[in-house]
Amino acid sequence: MDLYEAMYTTRAMRRVKPDPIPDEILGKLFDAAVRGPSGGNRHTFRFLTVTDKEMMKKIKDIYHDAYWELQETSYAEVQTKLKEGDPNDPSVKQTRRISNSAEYFVEYLDQHPMLIFVFGKQGGESTTFPVLWNLCLAARAEGLGTFITTLLKLRKQEVEQLLGMPEGFWHMHAMIPIGYPTGRWGTASRKPANEFVYSEAWDNPVTWTGIPNWEEPENYGRNHQ
Ligand SMILES: Cc1cc2nc3c(=O)[nH]c(=O)nc-3n(C[C@H](O)[C@H](O)[C@H](O)COP(=O)(O)O)c2cc1C
Repeated sequence: MDLYEAMYTTRAMRRVKPDPIPDEILGKLFDAAVRGPSGGNRHTFRFLTVTDKEMMKKIKDIYHDAYWELQETSYAEVQTKLKEGDPNDPSVKQTRRISNSAEYFVEYLDQHPMLIFVFGKQGGESTTFPVLWNLCLAARAEGLGTFITTLLKLRKQEVEQLLGMPEGFWHMHAMIPIGYPTGRWGTASRKPANEFVYSEAWDNPVTWTGIPNWEEPENYGRNHQ
């Protein structure tokens, strides 16, 4: 797969089939993941894969509680927007799409064939994220959907205990659910790149505009690898 295609289409895929992921595919994914850089090349990252359904159910309960706690606190404004916003407003529509997708995962977390937990040293996300994003891109190339989650950090201790982690050096940084998507692949929608980049000094606009380097062919998507 073309590198740009993978970068443009590695979306948050929360709806997946229960089909297991073959070991030879997992071997490829993790081999590509660990090619990512780490500070001092010290490989300060670890992964833990979970497929056991009893364990997943326990994780689902914790995720469920953490999700709704967040909606009542930090995300309360989002909930108000969904309840009171104009349903035809494109921004409300977009928020509803993300919220529906996130809530689907809350309800069906344990239907995923695998959850991948990612660990690093305390505050060491700058080292774990390059390798975990490599994993997501490699998964995309194999037709597997992923998405990054950090919500469980709200219940970090509980999750780490459940996974049998010793206290000390390693800390949970993220969980990546992975599986073969039920829906279609598509280009991630984002604001124009030039809105995120300044030139020479803070707030000075750049002289260029973003140039799409990959275009979605017609009928792109379903089962497309
Ligand atoms: C650091 C980080 C943490 C995230 N945490 C969660 C999470 O806990 N739960 C979740 O459903 N999605 C989570 N996401 C996924 C984002 O919601 C998703 O990447 C974003 O909405 C863009 O989706 P798209 O690429 O499909 O457009 C997280 C993403 C990042 C980068």
